[in-house]
Amino acid sequence: MNIDRFLQETIRKHMTLEDALPTKMPEYVNSFGYFFGTATLSSLAVIFISGIILAFWGPDWWHFTSVGHFTNSVHFWAVEVFYVSVTLHFTFKFFKAAWRDGRWRTWINGWLIWGISIFSGISGTLLQANWDSQWNAQQGKDAFNALGLSFMNWMNYTTVLTLHVVFFAFLIAVLVVAHLTFVRNESPVRPIVNEGKDEK
Ligand code: HEM
Repeated sequence: MNIDRFLQETIRKHMTLEDALPTKMPEYVNSFGYFFGTATLSSLAVIFISGIILAFWGPDWWHFTSVGHFTNSVHFWAVEVFYVSVTLHFTFKFFKAAWRDGRWRTWINGWLIWGISIFSGISGTLLQANWDSQWNAQQGKDAFNALGLSFMNWMNYTTVLTLHVVFFAFLIAVLVVAHLTFVRNESPVRPIVNEGKDEK
């Protein structure tokens, strides 16, 4: 098997260059509702950039340096913006019934990202390294033990740090790339009011 040929054929089969890097959009995309997906994506970019800076200088420097405090706050507030945007995003997509015409993959993939982002957020709060986070980790571990997931030790700071900065971050990045690929491949769903009218 030739991997490059396989990739070439798969990309060519599913996406043109205009799909991948569109220069035009349907008129109905000129609506404020479409801003929420972009806002989610932008806040995620800020989360990743500030998170990489936080992780770069070790697990606690953000508690005792002014640059660390600032970066930590940027990371925290980007997460707040992310959750507000993603909630508005999927609410808008729900009222547009954006899963229509085979877009169920984007819809299911979106819920997967959302579910993983909850675990990512929880693991983030456990990295505060204070009494509050220790209390939460201690209380939360019983729920995981009850689910048979006791191998995930939420009381171990290093495990939680790795889960947060490697495991969940990687899953979210991969699923977001898939999300955007599906959107580019399928194009934005048509408004409900116009459905079927063009064919008559
Ligand atoms: C990290 C989280 C997410 C990011 C970065 C993201 C980003 C985007 C972007 C940029 C678009 C294209 C622009 C737009 O239509 O607004 C889009 C479309 C879409 N998203 Fe998301 N999204 C996320 C989570 C979700 C969730 C949780 C759902 C629902 C459960 C969802 C469902 C959809 C659907 C169905 C579309 C296609 C809309 C259409 O065809 O018009 N997304 N997303």
